[in-house]
This record gives sequence, structure tokens and C-alpha cells, in this order.
Amino acid sequence: MSAASPRPAAFPLAPNATIGILGGGQLGRMSALAAAELGYRCHIYAPQDNEPGMLVSAARTIADYEDAAALAAFAAAVDVVTFEFENVPVRTLEILAPLVPCRPGPKALAVCQDRLQEKAFFGSAGVPVAPWAAVTTEAELRDAIARIGLPAVLKTTRLGYDGRGQAVLREPGDAAAAWARLSPRPLILEAFVPFTQELSAIAARGADGATAVYDAVENRHRHHILDLSFAPARVAPAVADAARAHAARVAAALELVGVLAVEFFLLPDGTLLGNEIAPRPHNSGHWTQDACQSSQFHQHIRAVAGLPLGGAARHSDAVMRNLVGPEGMARLPALAADTGVSLHLYGKASAREGRKMGHANRLFRLESLAFTAEAELLSEL
Ligand SMILES: Nc1ncnc2c1ncn2[C@@H]1O[C@H](COP(=O)(O)OP(=O)(O)O)[C@@H](O)[C@H]1O
Ligand SMILES: [Mg+2]
Repeated sequence: MSAASPRPAAFPLAPNATIGILGGGQLGRMSALAAAELGYRCHIYAPQDNEPGMLVSAARTIADYEDAAALAAFAAAVDVVTFEFENVPVRTLEILAPLVPCRPGPKALAVCQDRLQEKAFFGSAGVPVAPWAAVTTEAELRDAIARIGLPAVLKTTRLGYDGRGQAVLREPGDAAAAWARLSPRPLILEAFVPFTQELSAIAARGADGATAVYDAVENRHRHHILDLSFAPARVAPAVADAARAHAARVAAALELVGVLAVEFFLLPDGTLLGNEIAPRPHNSGHWTQDACQSSQFHQHIRAVAGLPLGGAARHSDAVMRNLVGPEGMARLPALAADTGVSLHLYGKASAREGRKMGHANRLFRLESLAFTAEAELLSEL
């Protein structure tokens, strides 16, 4: 086998071709289910067995992400590789890329894994961000606080999720404890953003550069974990359009093949600041499974397989609620009995505190969300 260029895949992939997915979580599971609907098989690669994605896929490899021999065997067994987990080492894609097409490729993964690269990238793509500074020593932290001011948020540059690896600094006296907790990892200090809402937009981009963008949504978090998404976001049309345009620009600038989500903070004056980029299907896009012709998972598989993108238009308004931990699972009987709700469960064995177990989508008549009382939107959900 030549080490220099990947085995040529015939795109679009023919029915029954195999899509390799790095990562075994719920995003891989729902991508695999979409792939099955489109006539493809999936092969999940992850370090642990019985992951949600493996339970619905044709094949699995249980191996470390940097196991070169296991990766070579995986590459030989699949027609294209994608990832559902943002913290797959870039090295994994670098090992795979000479062997098999990887969509998205290592560049998009590298940018989105590192908050410093991500912030700089937002700037180069023309998306404004809150003031920030890289911090590697306690002296740099003091300098950064002097420059950016307080309140501010100190974050690890890598491996953060659901609010982990973050500390809010409200007064100068908070710095020492935050430094002690988060160092010696590379850190970033960001100005605290007094946002009125958090929004996100999801863009799909095909290998031919065609782009499809879903409607922007409003996201509410509970204990730093996404709780609710309202689709569409109840914001001025210019704000929603700007969020979608930013997402499309980020996807183009990353030369992405697949889907990505961009998270934004909305300021009182209508300005959007970029927060994070996820180069994969995103929790805030789960509403698309029931309210759009092609869900974010179908779209991701279409892009990766080289098919034309599907329709991203919203045919219904929707509210998505995450089912998190035992508390979320306690809602199951009521949700299962509700014919107005679509349930999506991830097949996880145990409902630990803070663990995403599934989600529920409730549909509403198109263009009715903005005019429906919040209590009604959330009743039973
Ligand atoms: N600079 C900031 N100003 C205000 N709130 C923030 C800031 N950064 C993060 N947050 C809050 O914390 C949540 C999680 O932070 P985020 O950077 O998205 O990390 P992750 O989602 O990887 O845990 C955000 O959705 C937001 O609610
Ligand atoms: Mg986030």
C-alpha cells in the first residue's frame, strides 16, 4: 500500500459502503442511524466497548486512538473516516489521512480542539469575539486581568466540555485559587460576556463547497449543560441571518466537509460574539431530526459520503430538551406517553449525574414559536 496518498474512494460512496467513525458516543450513534437510512454501514472506532454508537453499527474496533496498527486495519476496512468526538487526537487523523479519506480533515479538528487557535481563527474568519489572552504563568494571568478587566472567565485551552475546566473570576482575590485549580495546563482568559442569549447555528458543507445552513437556535444551559434549544431563535431576523452567515463563513474558511456548529453570545445591542466551534454534529442541532427534511446527521453523512446535501429548511418550529442524568430519565414515562413528542435515547447503561441520556423534540406549527407562551412550549417537555 502506498503511504503517500489515500486509497482512492469513489465518491459519492455507493450503497453498502462503510463509513468509519472515530468515537462511540451519541453523536456517532445518531450519525450511524442516519447512515443506515442512506444505505451505508458504519464501523465505530473507540477505546471502550459497548459505546452507544457501536450498539447500532455493523462493526467496531476497540483500541487506543494512537494505536497505529489498529488504525491501519481500520483504514483498510472502511471507505471514508469521520469523527464524532472532538477530542480525538489530531495525530489519529494524521495517521489515517495517508491511508483513507478523512472528512473533516486534521486541520478543522486541530483548530477546534484548542481555544487559542479557535479564537484566532474566528478573527481571521471575520467573526468578532470577546477580548482574550493566552495565559501560561501566574504573572501572565495578572497581566491579562489588568488588560481585560473583571469579571472574566479562565479556561483550559483544551479538553473542556459542559463547563469543565473553567473558573469565573469576579474579583482580583479569585485569581490565585483559579490558577491553583486549572494550572499547569495552558489557559485562556476571556472577558466575561454579559450576553442576553446564547445562540448557535449549524452549517453543512459538501466536498464541492456547497453549503446548507440550518436556522439559528436559542440555547439555555443548566449546570453548564445544554438543557433546551428553541428553533428558531426568537431574535431579530438580522441577528438570525448574521449567525447563519457566520457559520457558513467558518465552514468555508475551515474547508470543512461535514457539519459544524458555531456557538454565539448575543449582546444587548444585537452584536454576536463567537464562542466555540464544534466540527461535528452538535447537541443544539438535535431538533433538526424532527423539524427538517434532512437532519444534521443525514447532512453530515451526505457530506462525508460525497452525496449532494439535503434540504435544511425548517418545516416546523421545535423545542428540544436534553434528558440529563437520573432527573432527565425520570421524565421518560410522561414523554413516552406524549404523542406530540419524539424521543431519542442513546442506549447508555447507567444514568450518572450530568450524563446526557437522550433528548425529546416537541414540534410546533411553523412560525408559531415566537407567539407561544414559554410555559406552553415547555409543558410536559
Ligand atoms: N466569556 C464568557 N462570558 C460569559 N459566559 C461564558 C463565557 N464563556 C463561557 N461562558 C458560559 O459557560 C458555558 C460553557 O462555556 P464554553 O466555552 O462553551 O465551554 P464548553 O461548552 O466547552 O464547556 C457557555 O455556554 C456560557 O454559558
Ligand atoms: Mg460550549
